[in-house]
Amino acid sequence: IRVHSDFHHLISRRGFLIAAAGVAASAPMRPVRASATEERRIKVAPSQARLTGTDGPQTPVWAYDGTVPGPTLRLRQREPARIVVDNGLDEDTTVHWHGIRLPNAMDGVPGLTQKPIKPGESFVYEFTPPDAGTFWYHPHADSLVQLGRGLAGALIVEEAEPVAVDRDLLWLLQDWRLAKDGQIAAGFGNMMDAAMSGRVGNVVTINGTVPADQLVKAGERIRLRLANASLARIMALRFEGHRPVVVAIDGQPCDPHEPDSGRLVLAPAMRIDVMLDMQGDPGKRYAVIDDFYDGLAYTLTTLAYDEAPPLRAHPLDAPVGLPRNPLPAPDLAGAERQEIVLQGGMMGGGKLAGVGGMMGMGMPGMNGEAAWAINGTSMTGDGHAGMAPQFTLRRGTTCHLTMRNETAWWHPMHIHGFSMSVLSRNGSSVPHRQWQDTVLLAPKDTIECAFVADNPGDWMLHCHVADHQMAGLMTVFRVT
Ligand code: C2O
Ligand code: CU
Ligand code: CU
Repeated sequence: IRVHSDFHHLISRRGFLIAAAGVAASAPMRPVRASATEERRIKVAPSQARLTGTDGPQTPVWAYDGTVPGPTLRLRQREPARIVVDNGLDEDTTVHWHGIRLPNAMDGVPGLTQKPIKPGESFVYEFTPPDAGTFWYHPHADSLVQLGRGLAGALIVEEAEPVAVDRDLLWLLQDWRLAKDGQIAAGFGNMMDAAMSGRVGNVVTINGTVPADQLVKAGERIRLRLANASLARIMALRFEGHRPVVVAIDGQPCDPHEPDSGRLVLAPAMRIDVMLDMQGDPGKRYAVIDDFYDGLAYTLTTLAYDEAPPLRAHPLDAPVGLPRNPLPAPDLAGAERQEIVLQGGMMGGGKLAGVGGMMGMGMPGMNGEAAWAINGTSMTGDGHAGMAPQFTLRRGTTCHLTMRNETAWWHPMHIHGFSMSVLSRNGSSVPHRQWQDTVLLAPKDTIECAFVADNPGDWMLHCHVADHQMAGLMTVFRVT
C-alpha cells in the first residue's frame, strides 16, 4: 500500500509532538436534555486550531462553530431536530448528515438534493433520526478541500433507554497533511493522490489534537465511539492488553464480537462502537496502535491507568449488546439485483487500468478529471453534474447490491439514505448481522449487500476517499 512519501519523516516528527502535547484528548460526554424539538444553529467559517497541542503552531482551518472537530451534536432517537447552518465561508457549502436515514431534501448534496448554501446564506435542516447510534456530519461541496481543512463533527443519536456503562467516550479521528510550519499543505487533488490512495496525511488527531494519554480507571466499562473523519487514511487499531468488543458498526448495533485478529479496521467515514472493560493494572500504560499500512505502524495514543484500585472486582455482568434499530428486513427472495463495478486508478507500475476506452486520455485526477469510474462512467466533483441515475428502484423493493472492486486500491463505498445489510465478502457470509452505510472493499474484493428501498429520492453512492469521489468513483441511484 502506497502512502505519501513524507510519511516516515512526519510520523517521527509526530512522535516528538506527542511528547510535547499535554492535553487529554477525550472528555466524558454529559447528556444534556431539553425540549421536544432539538434546535441548533451552527456557523461554518475559517478559524484557527492548535492541532498538535497547546505548544504547537496555530493552523488555519475551516470549522463548525470555530472548533475542530465541530460541536458534537446530540439528538434523540425519534425526536425531531432542526439545525440551521450559516455559511461564513467564501464558497458554497452544505451539510451532509452521514449515515442518518432522512428525507432526501435534507441529505445535503448540492445540485442533487438542495441548492448549495451560498456565502452569507443559511439553510435549515429538519429531520427525525429513526436510528440511535454514532453518526457524523460534514460538507458535501468542494468535499476534498472542505473536509481536508477540518469541517467534520460527530452526531450522536441517543438510545431511548440509556446504555449501562461507566463512561461514554468519543474519539473523532482526523488525518491532516501539515507542512512544517503547521499550515495545511497545499496541493489538494493532485494526480498522485487522486489516482492512488488519496490524500493520506502525516498527523492524526483525536477530537482535534494530537492525543496525549487517555486516562482510564481499572475495572470501568467504557463505550468508546470511534469515528474516522479522515480524507483517505484507513486505520487498523489494536488496543494492547485489551479486548474491545464491537457492538455497533456505522451506528447500527451488531451482534457483539471481538474483531478478527483483534484489529478494528476503520476506513474513512466508518464508525465503530466498542465496549471496553478496563482490565489493565492500576498505574500501567497500554498503547493503542494503528498498523494498517505495512511498515508504518505508530502509536495513536496510550491508555494510562490511574493508581486507584479497580472500580469493581469483576467486569460488569450487564450485557454489552445494544438494542437494534428499526431497519426494514430485506426480502432476499424477491430482491432486485444490481451490480456496480469499481474501475480505474493507477496500476502498480504507474499505468492506468483500462476502463472502456474513456480512461485512456490525459492525466488522471487533475482537478476533477476522471481517474476512476463506476460501471464505465465517471461522475466527478460533488454530485452536481447532471447524470442519469445508474439504476432505479421501485419504492419498497429490496435491492441486492453486488459491489465488485476491479482496481488495485482500497475503497470505502458509502451509500446515502440507507443502511445496508452486509451479506457476503468474496463468497463467505459475513457474520454478526452487520449493517453498514460504508463498506470497505480491499483490492479485488466482491461484496454483497441488501437494503429495502423505502426512501424515495436520488441518492449518492460513492467512495469516501475524497480524492476518489472527486475523480469519478461516484454514482447516483433513484428510488421512486
Ligand atoms: Cu459522508 Cu456522501 O458522504
Ligand atoms: Cu453519507
Ligand atoms: Cu476509493
